[in-house]
Amino acid sequence: MTRILIVEDRDALREMLKDFLSERYYVFDSVSAEEGEKNLIHYPDIVLCDLKLPGISGLDFIDIVKEKCPESEVIIMTAFGDIPTAVKAMKKGAFDFIPKPLDLNLLSVLIKKAEKSISMKRIIGKENAEFQIIGESSVFKNTLSIALKYAAANVPVLISGESGSGKEVVAKYIHLNSDRKENLFVPINSAAIPASLFESELFGYSKGSFTGAVTSKKGLIEIAEGGTVFFDEIGDLPLNLQPKILRLIENGEYQRIGGEEFLKADVRFLFATNKNLKQLVEEKKFNEGLYRRISTFTVNIPPLRERVEDIPALAEYFLKKAGATGKLLDTALKSESVENLKRLKWAGNVRELKNLMEKWVILEKVVFDNSFETEGDIIAVELSPDKTFKDINYEFERKIFEFYLKKHKGNKLALAKDLNMNYKTLLNKLARLGL
Ligand SMILES: Nc1ncnc2c1ncn2[C@@H]1O[C@H](COP(=O)(O)OP(=O)(O)OP(=O)(O)O)[C@@H](O)[C@H]1O
Ligand SMILES: [Mg+2]
Repeated sequence: MTRILIVEDRDALREMLKDFLSERYYVFDSVSAEEGEKNLIHYPDIVLCDLKLPGISGLDFIDIVKEKCPESEVIIMTAFGDIPTAVKAMKKGAFDFIPKPLDLNLLSVLIKKAEKSISMKRIIGKENAEFQIIGESSVFKNTLSIALKYAAANVPVLISGESGSGKEVVAKYIHLNSDRKENLFVPINSAAIPASLFESELFGYSKGSFTGAVTSKKGLIEIAEGGTVFFDEIGDLPLNLQPKILRLIENGEYQRIGGEEFLKADVRFLFATNKNLKQLVEEKKFNEGLYRRISTFTVNIPPLRERVEDIPALAEYFLKKAGATGKLLDTALKSESVENLKRLKWAGNVRELKNLMEKWVILEKVVFDNSFETEGDIIAVELSPDKTFKDINYEFERKIFEFYLKKHKGNKLALAKDLNMNYKTLLNKLARLGL
């Protein structure tokens, strides 16, 4: 049950509030800030405090509450029209203020809002405490140190990297190292929201703006107020929305659908892509202005195969997260199996490693055979007009031979037999392919 501390020197008002609030909340009350301070040992969730008190004032009491019970929300009761003091209270971190004489309906609404904010803060606090980013390699540490520099600067950042390399984790890392960490981190997957709904999801709509809009609805930008919005797969953002996003980043302004006035957003923007945005701009598939605005500060996450030193720590982290203990954990982390992991291609990067570790735990066995990764794999060779036919053919052949080598666990004699190839010819071929 939510605990409310009332601090009010006028007996009649205090008793009335106590009666009113005791129906739904656990209430304790004090006649002064001095007595209220003693009551803080009960950790109230909400402090409802008069501004003019004998002794320590309501304004100074906000500081005491913030110091002793930082999670509590303070609602200040002010004399009607005393806006300057109310503003001072808000600056000191009060949740809100309510003018006297009190409108009890309004009070109920404010308390509900404060309760929501408290539970949100607890969820965010728990999530933040659980967050971990793993990386031992100097390449990855370097990536993180760049991200850390941007974190403090409140600038838009474009994070690039292959699928599963950790773009969202790095975005979260930036958010958690910024002064917005107490507020929400809102990921928006530009590829997953249908283009027709994108604008209303993002900006919300006003009542009556279209058939079916019976109430107004907050958009994700408004929900993220004070926090960070992470636009994932920004290359898939509908082209017609891109100028609106540019305006939002530049001026913090946007319009709800059907809304006349421009709303102001206090939000930080992070972006991720695994596409070549510059190329999309050249092909007129991405807004040039937006590209320029978001590509000043970039973080590139190297693929896992270029930082295999991260594999042991990541494997251990994912195994433990999946519940591995004792013998299973020891066997999985034996240098032999870790060395095998380092040799794999990791086309799906860290996500693939995470999935594999989960599979190991679920199946309660560690697969030492390193050919499993290639099962059902598709050969992918990047075609590009810059490459010669020879280059492409070379890459293609190399992958085929690599697969067969793995199949025979490196036994070249068996491979020659399987391919019905002269052994010497095979050796020459492998040498030419650098295998
Ligand atoms: N350095 C890391 N430390 C801990 N976990 C990580 C790390 N990198 C990635 N992960 C985990 O791997 C998974 C994939 O990471 P993430 O979602 O950030 O990748 P992504 O680059 O955004 O992928 P996609 O391109 O598919 O959107 C997630 O479960 C994430 O928590
Ligand atoms: Mg992602």
